[in-house]
Parts: sequence; structure tokens; C-alpha cells
Amino acid sequence: MWWKEAVVYQIYPRSFADSNGDGIGDLQGIIEKLDYLNGNPDSLGVDAIWLSPIYPSPMVDFGYDISDYEDIDPVFGDLKTFKKLLKEAHKRNIKVIMDLVINHTSDQHPWFIESRSSKKNKKRDWYIWEDAIDGKPPNNWMGAFGGNAWEWDEKTKQYYYHGFTKEQPDLNWRNPEVKKAIFKMISYWLDMGVDGFRLDVVNYYIKDKKLRDNPKDYFKGLRPYDIQHHIYDRDRPKVHSILKSFRKLLNSYDGDRMSVGEVFIEPPGNPKLATSYYGDNSDELHMAFNFAFLYCKWDPNKFKAAIASLEQELKPGDWPNYTLSNHDQIRHIKRYEKGIETIPRMRIAAMLMLTLRGTPFLYYGEEIGMEDQSVPKDEIQDPLGKMYWPIFNGRDKSRLPMCWNASEYAGFSTSKPWLPMNKNYKKNNVEVEAAKPDSLLNTYKKLLSIRRSSEILQKGDIRLLDDPSGKVLAYFRIYKKNRLLILLNFKNEKVQFDLDKHTHPKTKTILLYSTDMQRLEGETIKLPHIRLSSYEGMIIKFE
Ligand code: GLC
Ligand code: CA
Repeated sequence: MWWKEAVVYQIYPRSFADSNGDGIGDLQGIIEKLDYLNGNPDSLGVDAIWLSPIYPSPMVDFGYDISDYEDIDPVFGDLKTFKKLLKEAHKRNIKVIMDLVINHTSDQHPWFIESRSSKKNKKRDWYIWEDAIDGKPPNNWMGAFGGNAWEWDEKTKQYYYHGFTKEQPDLNWRNPEVKKAIFKMISYWLDMGVDGFRLDVVNYYIKDKKLRDNPKDYFKGLRPYDIQHHIYDRDRPKVHSILKSFRKLLNSYDGDRMSVGEVFIEPPGNPKLATSYYGDNSDELHMAFNFAFLYCKWDPNKFKAAIASLEQELKPGDWPNYTLSNHDQIRHIKRYEKGIETIPRMRIAAMLMLTLRGTPFLYYGEEIGMEDQSVPKDEIQDPLGKMYWPIFNGRDKSRLPMCWNASEYAGFSTSKPWLPMNKNYKKNNVEVEAAKPDSLLNTYKKLLSIRRSSEILQKGDIRLLDDPSGKVLAYFRIYKKNRLLILLNFKNEKVQFDLDKHTHPKTKTILLYSTDMQRLEGETIKLPHIRLSSYEGMIIKFE
């Protein structure tokens, strides 16, 4: 099962590499960067890429509003280029995961245009249409991107439901024809050779049939949406039967096609994993995203608790996964920023991600320590930023163009990119970091290569250890009779970690890797008192 051993790298296609100089990243740009990702000795060494949506779209939500499921948006290229990308990626042992946005379409999708045309249209029921009640929407459901979730259609005198912007009407998944059409589309990509899917807002597909009001005043948050308890517009039981048949469809293909679902569960910031989306017997999604790390403060005990609770919640056979950053979140470099300690922290975070049990999902640019930067008001692109400015200026800041080198526009493009360049790009880019032995990029490369060659890291169990000092995160990874000890010093000070004598057999212990360049690989580590320098991460091998 490749997806268990794989490290996945998320690409936000608009911002990765622009091949034709229009300022927007594209598929040919990605093809030209595949060598950077895998397949040659200098590559980063990731096993799969997840592409945020590349289908034709009016780009109200930058591809998360799809107007044609079976084609490529001209801004990104065409089907021929996509097939070339698949082929070139596979040549380099990179799997390709597409974003599946099937909770809603664009309002420009022909299905919705038809549905909207009249109450009698045969696609009317493909979306969620309701009469007004006393001149008002049928219930209190809110759109996640602001305002009421119901949009009045003057022509046909009904409301349609949209969980996000009004340009993203929700499909009616209770209609069997919708399911049929979507599954046909999924087969189309599977036939082409796509290796898997990331399922956008998978827990939103099914809404309460009776359209009951959500309870209010449940949670305090930025958006009016946050105060509701989303028990009727999300996580309805029937979604699981859809996912069971979706899994059967994937399983009917050879080559182990995988799926990972985006599931935020209530209340917001809940570090619990949505294990129910793995199914009863691993018969639904292969994985539901584990977003627990997005809410962990820089504290080893917080991370330890998140790992422990995940390991505990997983049912037998369910496989863990970890994420620190993605296109909707503030990058973790920003969350853990602390002057000159920031990069040392990023090394610790990288070692954590790449030595845990479970599939790591990396986000483009994190390997070079690319920073978030706020976008000036008149350059905001994200609909969420436009809606909530100035309280929140949106998600553009974590979607800036990738910094490849120090040339104008950072080697991303030959003309002004669709979002501003990162201010630090001259110092902080792939070319500069590749040349520096102690760069963050080289730390990632090293860790990725260690993970790749270690069955213990890819397949082993995890045993979390206690650290009374509260400064170190420590765990064993164990596979068959072999073990690795991982020690991560979260502090900017020297610490001593004492290994409980009961937890280690009397064997030789050697250093496999340390983030501290002063140390020598292969050096013997004396137990049980291990001294770590500030922000040192160590992987120790028990022979
Ligand atoms: C998901 C995506 C986000 C998008 C939303 C609506 O949360 O990750 O980027 O805006 O769904 O499709
Ligand atoms: Ca382009």
C-alpha cells in the first residue's frame, strides 16, 4: 500500500511554477519541476503530489468552483499536458493525487445552468432548491464564506443552497443521478491513471432531509458561521453509504488508488480525528485528514497529546496521517515564528513530521521555510479575504509563488505573478538553500531519504516516552525487533533526556542523524543520559 509509506507534497498549481509567463503557475511548470521533487540524486524525494483543483473554473474560489469536471482549465494547460504530467511523474515514482470537489460545483457548470433554468428542468433536483417560508430562507444555515447559505433566484422564485460562496451551489447528493454522474467522472480520471483523490469538504455532501435549524451560540468564532453547531448541514449519516460505494469504485481499479478526505469536525479546533470517515472496517476513505497539529502550540506536550489521542482513536487497520500546513491555513513557519529560533524550530517540526507513524502531507515551500506574507488590500484575491477584510485578509498569504531562485520573480515566472512575491525571495529560495549544507531544504532532503530507506519509520509502531523536563518530545519507532529513538528538543537551551532503563535493551546505540551539524553521523550515543543541544533533533539507532 504505497500511500502508507508515501510522503505527499501538496502543490497549489497557481503558485508553483509558471511556464508561459502569464504570472500564473501551470501544469507544464510542474512538469519542469518534477526533477526537483523526485527521480534524481538531488531531488527532495517525495512520493506523491496532491494538486489543488486544475479543472475549468471561473476561479471565484480558485478552482474550488468547477464548471467542467472532465477537462483542464486553460490557465493550467490542457488534457494532453495533464497526461504528460502523469507520465512524467510516474517515471520518477511520483504518484498524482487530484482534488475532488464534489460537494458543490460552480454556478457556471452546465448542470447548474440547466437546473436554474426552470423548476421543471430535469436537472432541477440535482441541486438543493427550496421555497421561501414567509418570504425568508427555509432555515438558519449559514455559508462558510459569509451570510446566509440560501440564495434567492428571482426567475424561478426559489432559494438554492450554497455552503460556500453563492457561486458554489451545493449538489443534491440524495439524487441518484448526481451520484451516477459524479462516479462516472471519477472513473474517467481513474482510467487515465490518476493515483488518488483528496476529497474536498467530504463531510458536507449530505444535509438534513428535514432542513432542521442548526443550534446557535455554540462556539465563538470569526464568522457568523462559527457560532452554529453544524449538526444538520454536515456529518449526516447517509454520507457514509456514498463513501462506501466510492471506496468500492476505487478498489475495482488495480494499482491501489487512494483517497484522503478533508474533514473538520466540531467544535472548530477539535483535535479529534474523524475516524468515522475511515468506515467501519476501513471500507470508506483510506484516510481522513488529521488537522490536530494545526492547533498545537510550540510545546512538546501538546504534540505528544495530539499523537497519543490520534493513536488511541484509530480503529484497527486505520492509518494515521499528519499535516502542519496547507492552502487554507497560516503556514506553520508563521505559527511558530520566533526570530532566529524560527528555522531551528522548522527543523524540529520537519523531523517530527517525517519520523511519525503515518503519512505526512507537506505543503509546497515549507521545505525552504517560505513565509506567509500579508497581501495588501487591493491585491487580495481570496474571496474569504475580500469578505472579511480587515478582520481577516484571507488565505492568499499562504499561497504565494514558490521561490526558486534570486532572479526577478524568483524563477517562478517571467512576469508579475498573480500574488505578490515573497519579500525574502532573494535570500530564501531553492537555489540558495540547495547550495548550503545546513539549510532547511537540506534537512528535509536528508530526513526524507532516511525515511525512505527505513522500514522502521515507514511501517513501525510508535511508543511515546515521558520527559519529566517537559522540553523534549521523545518516542520509539519499532518494527520487528528493530528500533529507533527520536528525540526532539523544543527549547532554545541544552537539555538532558534520561532514558528509563526499562525501555532500552542493552545494545549499541548510534546516531543516525542529528540536526546539530557539530555531531557526527555514526557517533556512539551513551545511554541512559542523552544531552541535546538547543533545538536539537536526533534519530538514534539501536543495533
Ligand atoms: C475546502 C478547500 C478550500 C475551499 C473550500 C470550498 O475547505 O480546502 O480551499 O475554499 O473547501 O471548496
Ligand atoms: Ca502560466
